[in-house]
Amino acid sequence: MKRTAKFTSHKRHLIAGNWKMNGLLGDAQQFIADLADNPAPDHVEVALMPPFTLLHPMAESLREKDVRLGAQSVYFEKNGAFTGSISAIMLRDVGCHYVILGHSERRDIIGESNNIVHSKLDAAWETGLEPILCIGEHQQERENGKTNAVLSEQLSVLAKARSDAPLTVAYEPVWAIGTGLTATPEQVTETHAFIHDELARMGHDCRVLYGGSVKPDNAAALMACPGVEGALVGGASLQATSFNQIIQAAGNVAKGE
Ligand code: PGA
Repeated sequence: MKRTAKFTSHKRHLIAGNWKMNGLLGDAQQFIADLADNPAPDHVEVALMPPFTLLHPMAESLREKDVRLGAQSVYFEKNGAFTGSISAIMLRDVGCHYVILGHSERRDIIGESNNIVHSKLDAAWETGLEPILCIGEHQQERENGKTNAVLSEQLSVLAKARSDAPLTVAYEPVWAIGTGLTATPEQVTETHAFIHDELARMGHDCRVLYGGSVKPDNAAALMACPGVEGALVGGASLQATSFNQIIQAAGNVAKGE
């Protein structure tokens, strides 16, 4: 079944900032102070995923500002001799609610397989973290008509998961990440419909975000696509001004303005 028609979401939209390998202590405190000047609209949830080194120093101030904290990755073992790794319980310990899993930069640069993503999902759930599972096709795969097959394969890690497990999915076409290119509203609508159908087939009813060069000037159009329930923002989340403009744009769309 193809669902490209009207999609009504009852979920609170999420705007999540993925800082990747950016940010020092001084930047973080200034960012939080600047963000606080413009509170998020009620129907928009805001989260930040700074690098590991900033999680603890940012946790307290973000809690006060009602902004959730997340990590960009996790290791699936609980503890032990895994030099350089961070476990899910450690992320909970410093106040994380979310963890990004399966980001294309980890799949493509670090070599994370779907199996590893699967183990990490289980580790996150065991500890009470909410995964933001990233999925997305490469340019060549889209051109070859393989988008849906690639997304199905990446979503298959959810096949045996409990349907009430906390989960957010982020559709991020790899060719749109950090490139300034974005999927067209038609592509976004069609792909999100496919993802929602796949999730429903596996018993999941979760938020699906869009990610890939989301900026203040395209956020409203992308957030208005049926089936889009927020954004995972990279580059534009590094400045409080642009991140806040995206939050406000999402708020206006969610309110129906
Ligand atoms: P971008 O990154 O907004 O810089 O394209 C998005 C992401 O990687 O999540």
